[in-house]
Amino acid sequence: MFEEELTELLQRARQHNGSIGVTGALVYRGEVFLQVLEGPKEVVRSLYYDAIQHDTRHKECLVLWEGPAQVREFEDWSMGFYRLAVGELPGHRSLDDLLF
Ligand SMILES: Cc1cc2nc3c(=O)[nH]c(=O)nc-3n(C[C@H](O)[C@H](O)[C@H](O)COP(=O)(O)O)c2cc1C
Repeated sequence: MFEEELTELLQRARQHNGSIGVTGALVYRGEVFLQVLEGPKEVVRSLYYDAIQHDTRHKECLVLWEGPAQVREFEDWSMGFYRLAVGELPGHRSLDDLLF
């Protein structure tokens, strides 16, 4: 994805997520996105299944885990973003220390 496309996607996602009470994080590396979405169940489901999943800018979407959470891990992030560098391994226990 080109830099401008990514910036636009993030701006739009942050604005929208903020307005619907969704928080989370997006990690990007090469051709792969890994995203965490948090919020009320139906809101998150609708965002993913009605919008993100159908986005033609990506394909082969996969839900790795879905379920209830006691607290939000990314409560201050309408959509935190981290670009993983080549050779960098996501060995952190939490994404908190990776996000900016
Ligand atoms: C990897 C990826 C992650 C996305 N994450 C979000 C998100 O968290 N929130 C959001 O509103 N849109 C997100 N989008 C964009 C949506 O797929 C979609 O473009 C947008 O919700 C459509 O809004 P519109 O129909 O009002 O233009 C993401 C897109 C991609 C490719």
